[in-house]
Amino acid sequence: MAVPFVQGWDVVQTLGEGAYGEVRLLVNRQTEEAVAVKVIDTSQSKECAENVKKEICVHKSLNHQNIVRFYGQRQEGPITYLFLEYCSGGELFDRIEPDIGMPEKDAHRFFTQLVCAVEYLHSIGITHRDIKPENILLDDKDNLKLTDFGLATLFRFKGRERLLSRICGTLPYVAPELLSQTEFKARPADVWACGIVLTAMLAGELPWDQPSESCQEYSDWLQKKTYLPPWKKIQPMLLALLGKLLLPDPDKRISISDIKNDRWFSQGAKPPPPGSKHLRTDPAYLSRANSDDKMQFSSSQPDFAPGSWESTYNGPSDGLVSFSQPIKPEHMLLGSQLLGTPGASQNPWQRLVRRMTRFFTNVDADASLCALKDISVSLAITFKVNCSKQVTLSTLDKRNNKLIFKVYVLEMNHRVLLDFRLSKGDGLEFKRLFVRIKQKLGDIISTQKILLPLN
Ligand code: ADE
Repeated sequence: MAVPFVQGWDVVQTLGEGAYGEVRLLVNRQTEEAVAVKVIDTSQSKECAENVKKEICVHKSLNHQNIVRFYGQRQEGPITYLFLEYCSGGELFDRIEPDIGMPEKDAHRFFTQLVCAVEYLHSIGITHRDIKPENILLDDKDNLKLTDFGLATLFRFKGRERLLSRICGTLPYVAPELLSQTEFKARPADVWACGIVLTAMLAGELPWDQPSESCQEYSDWLQKKTYLPPWKKIQPMLLALLGKLLLPDPDKRISISDIKNDRWFSQGAKPPPPGSKHLRTDPAYLSRANSDDKMQFSSSQPDFAPGSWESTYNGPSDGLVSFSQPIKPEHMLLGSQLLGTPGASQNPWQRLVRRMTRFFTNVDADASLCALKDISVSLAITFKVNCSKQVTLSTLDKRNNKLIFKVYVLEMNHRVLLDFRLSKGDGLEFKRLFVRIKQKLGDIISTQKILLPLN
């Protein structure tokens, strides 16, 4: 059964959740067009309602290929719905492998597009103020799309620029002047956040908790200790750019227009000349990057066609029912076939967000949860059963920050899928822990290819 939320459109699944509420996927029954809808409960506070108004006002004025399109809004009592371009490639976050990052050429392409989006925003006087991989989505061709304008604001109006004073954003991504000065310029702070995103893409880790001298990692960076991680994983030409993006003095920090003249940025991610040795080309690094660890993120398991499980899977917010049947038989592909299918040739069904934090087990739901509970205890993770289909795991990460995630138990085609979703905390830490749990659950993880009937 399907729930027609807007006439002719069915709610397919939940794409993500955040402090604001949820983002769900809507698909048009006839045309199969896909749209994302962000659901915000504005009854929480007056401030929330004001913020959403501002988000709409900013987002609807934007028109750029690297920014998620805003299609419209709808108000139903206290709930605001924002209709947005659906990005079937998922979050940039999911392309970052913990402690490894991603291939330099991918990082180059994504960074170029991010700079393009930010340059556009700044050209019309808008600052995003919360640039981070969770707010960066990818479309079906892996084009980058900046989203979430909930904190965006105008810093220039009729040619007059104003300084900002509100401290907002996400601590590991905020520029140091936000923590040390009462007023600061808008644009250098966005540039700083782009530098942190680039670091995360290249090293698979965030360099610090926050850019204050009391933070050891940040003070090491100020002292140019680039022999330490994450910097030691990064080649010199790139490190030179990061040095300019992450300059503590906002007036000396590189501007968006000067980024374009940077050597690495303008040359592209060419391979370094033969014989030059740094971590990213070191055979030891490469073998690490290609180890089983990596396979956990690209195995035959996670990237299957949702078209093959929609009849049983309603997404984490059960009650929101999945889409209508029948869908075309050709959409019922073999899960593993999709791994090799280029994005452009896939339709929205087949390109439903690629999430890697899930796997099938080879035991039943109870045994899967039992095993998960045992592992959680051994890893000092608090395990709370919400219902037979869902548990919440909570712990502290290595920086002592809260890390909370939910595991959904989905039974489909006589198999059990454990689907891990971050509720609160650092996404990279979440993935690191996911990998550890997955390793420990090795015995009950199914290695079978996902074969599903074609009709
Ligand atoms: N998650 C949050 N917003 C999204 C969107 N527009 N498309 C896909 N996934 C999303």
